[in-house]
Amino acid sequence: MVTKDPTSRLNARVIGICIAAALGGFLFGFDTSVINGAVDALSEHFSLGAGLTGFAVSSALLGCAVGAWFAGPVANRLGRVPVMLLASVLFLVSAIGSGLAFGVWDLIVWRVIGGLGVGAASVIAPAYIAEVSPAGVRGRLGSLQQLAIVTGIFVALLSDAMFANLAGGAAEPFWWGLEAWRWMFMAEAVPAALYGIFAFRLPESPRFLVGRGKLDQAAQVLYDFTGVEQVNLKIQEIKNTLDSEKRESLRDLAGSLMGLKPIVWVGIALSVFQQFVGINVIFYYSTTLWRSVGFEESDALTVSVITSVTNIVVTIIAILLVDRVGRRPMLLVGSLGMTFSLALMAVSFSFAVTTTAPDGTTSAELGGPWATVALVAANAFVVFFGATWGPLVWVLLGEMFPNRIRAGALAVAAAAQWAANFTVSTTFPMLADVGLSLAYGLYAAMAALSFVFVWRFVAETKGRELEEMTDSVNARRSRTRSPSRR
Ligand code: GLC
Repeated sequence: MVTKDPTSRLNARVIGICIAAALGGFLFGFDTSVINGAVDALSEHFSLGAGLTGFAVSSALLGCAVGAWFAGPVANRLGRVPVMLLASVLFLVSAIGSGLAFGVWDLIVWRVIGGLGVGAASVIAPAYIAEVSPAGVRGRLGSLQQLAIVTGIFVALLSDAMFANLAGGAAEPFWWGLEAWRWMFMAEAVPAALYGIFAFRLPESPRFLVGRGKLDQAAQVLYDFTGVEQVNLKIQEIKNTLDSEKRESLRDLAGSLMGLKPIVWVGIALSVFQQFVGINVIFYYSTTLWRSVGFEESDALTVSVITSVTNIVVTIIAILLVDRVGRRPMLLVGSLGMTFSLALMAVSFSFAVTTTAPDGTTSAELGGPWATVALVAANAFVVFFGATWGPLVWVLLGEMFPNRIRAGALAVAAAAQWAANFTVSTTFPMLADVGLSLAYGLYAAMAALSFVFVWRFVAETKGRELEEMTDSVNARRSRTRSPSRR
């Protein structure tokens, strides 16, 4: 399948540049989960209360929303590659700064700086990958971003465990007298530097180059990387889409809902649903979840490793299926599967016994068969999410918008996703206090709504050229459009 022929549909060079761009996803996953292994030690080190600890954890997510928001205009003005370089510098500065933090407030500042990098990387990887990929394999290549994200989550888990083990505890001093939790953050400097080095060698996106009038350069990239045979025709096509949309912006001139084009709202809703099904509660609060189904704290790491590996394996399944089955059917199956597995978790936790510790904190515990049901349901949820909504929302956000508004629209949708992630992560402890059944019941309702939403509003994009994307949100009409000419 992989040949050196530049006209082949999936050549080694395009895979290489997509992997390099997806490294941003690795940092996204690593950065958002590295704090899990460090949080107890740093709250002890800086004597933090629950509120400030929570803020130290979630503040980075706000940075992500801001980083995503600004990535759009910067990508439009300077290009896709400069955004990657900028993100790698932000990751690097944040890794070193967080590791050497003097107090909690400068730690929060360094974490927010890393969040800006995560936000920017979350926008630029899907946009860039979609723009350099041949249409027939765009879904697979776009899903590499999610593979990189879940690998980043997994590697952060392992690297945190490794440093804690080597030092004999996350709060214990280690190399050069610096505590293990500091090394957990500083480890991120390595992938951050690699990302910068790779990004430096990446070609600029042909869609951006055409927009800047650099037609020769664009032709070269299209020929070398995407295997387009009739390069001039393609360039003319890209030019036409850019010209026809010239006077437009994210705002719909026809004055639709709150001034945004309907397709931008579809992107925002996909993003918000992806978070409102509660996936990150499984990753960010894994210890709480696994303890409530009867695991000791020491076993919680093992279960988290199992969940993380499951997530990686199912992403590979998604990569194999996405360009054959299509985005819509996979999202619909994912919504159904998530609805049932989350509902099962909600039912299981209704049998939980709530105990109150002497310090007033409450915890829910499940015993007997319901603990097993909850455990299986939680992993089934990760399977359904990881094989569908996890990768596909990023793929769709990269490809569903017309050329002219892609970077800006993706930035708005990704910023909404980070805000939704922040909302779910910060409200979960309160919901869990009322009852885990309520929390998972709400997420199940969101998953059910996501089915209706996809059914009604999401158009199939499988095999279609980026130049065919319009701001139509009529799923049925778009579904019957002719597929790619290639
Ligand atoms: C998706 C989500 C991200 C989540 C990850 C987990 O990439 O956007 O928030 O952490 O999936 O698999």
